Amino acid sequence: MTAIQAVRGMNDILPDEAELWLEFEARVGDWLARYGYRNIRTPLVEHAQLFRRAIGEATDIVEKEMYSWRDELNDEDLTLRPEGTASCVRAAIEHNLVYDGPKRLWYAGPMYRHERPQKGRYRQFHQYGVEALGFPGPDVDAEHIAMCAALWRDLNLRDIALHLNTIGNAEERARYRADLVQHLEKHQDRLDADAKRRLHTNPLRTLDSKNPMVQEVVASAPSLIDYLGEASLSHFDGLKSLLKAADIRFEINPKLVRGLDYYNLTVFEWISPHLGAQGTVCGGGRYDGLFAQLGGKPTPATGFAMGNERLIALLREVGRKPELEAPHAYVVHQGVGTLEYAFVLAEDLRGRDLRVVLHAGGGSFKSQMKKADGSGARYALIVGEDELKAGEVSVKPLRTDQPQIRVKRDALASSLQGNG
Ligand code: HAM
Repeated sequence: MTAIQAVRGMNDILPDEAELWLEFEARVGDWLARYGYRNIRTPLVEHAQLFRRAIGEATDIVEKEMYSWRDELNDEDLTLRPEGTASCVRAAIEHNLVYDGPKRLWYAGPMYRHERPQKGRYRQFHQYGVEALGFPGPDVDAEHIAMCAALWRDLNLRDIALHLNTIGNAEERARYRADLVQHLEKHQDRLDADAKRRLHTNPLRTLDSKNPMVQEVVASAPSLIDYLGEASLSHFDGLKSLLKAADIRFEINPKLVRGLDYYNLTVFEWISPHLGAQGTVCGGGRYDGLFAQLGGKPTPATGFAMGNERLIALLREVGRKPELEAPHAYVVHQGVGTLEYAFVLAEDLRGRDLRVVLHAGGGSFKSQMKKADGSGARYALIVGEDELKAGEVSVKPLRTDQPQIRVKRDALASSLQGNG
């Protein structure tokens, strides 16, 4: 029979890799707590309409990347979440989360997009998302960017560059959009199929086209920043001056518009030069219109999300190896009645916070000792019929030349703890 494999673009994370994930998650957990963010958990499955409304009909995600299906039993269209912001805002509206003031929230977990898989781009991938609901900014916008900078420092990831832009408010964008469309129409012959298709649905996306010919057309297009009014510009200035005060370097990228339609004012991306085409490790921005768009009270908000697979690939790149927590002890046993004795002994030691592996599956004394050595444990705890009768355990240090000793069972835990 042929073996069944994982679904394309959805990866197993095997133990060697998972240890690095655990270490990464522990650091991110500490970092989120340092900034006063609280966890929120929303379902992986939502109504398809949520993402259509939030992310926008004319985006890549909604047009071609969502895992959606019709649930005939309940007569509803459902979708595996492609991102977390829409769910977070949906939950905040549904549970009236910001009724008593703004909230700082984070979430983590798998997201699903039916993209063409390649290095750094998967169909199931994992994000940490951070959302600040009810804050008009620009102080919180700056807080989010400073948070990212601090995390890269904590993780020792050095050359991740911050690309920053402002895309104004809806009216400013509408005026700009009209002029941009005019410009693009004048140069229709040099647009590719994608740009032509987007011309009347999502022309701003053309700004970050990767096609050199389209880029040339875009280079001579009007600039969005010239369409911004005083309020938008002063928001941006406020953000920039906080970043400067905190010594955070940024590059203004007027072509940065992001792939989701809910943004206004601040947008940003952090890009690493070490990951090829999928170098964006984190992206976000302000989405002041989203609450109202999803049927809630108008509420200013901003946030970002980072891709775990990409950050962990970077950690590997800088040679980060997980710190393995080897067991304190590996218990081997041989002889009548020794399994029960060893089993209870191992349970007792674990109850005292020691990491203990009990040999399972039998085998000769020699092969058990080989397993003990291979486990990385500091000690082999040996239980034979002699030890059983005497109520003792033989302790053999596996990482030093110290001699093997016999210890009373009751004294064992403190003797192991005393030895680290
Ligand atoms: P996004 O830019 O679509 O934003 O995704 C954020 C990050 O998730 C990306 O920068 C990337 O690191 C990672 N990512 C996205 N797609 C994939 C993929 N197919 N494979 C691997 N990693 C991927 C959002 O999702 C917004 N919800 C961010 C946000 C939060 N904006 C405001 N609040």
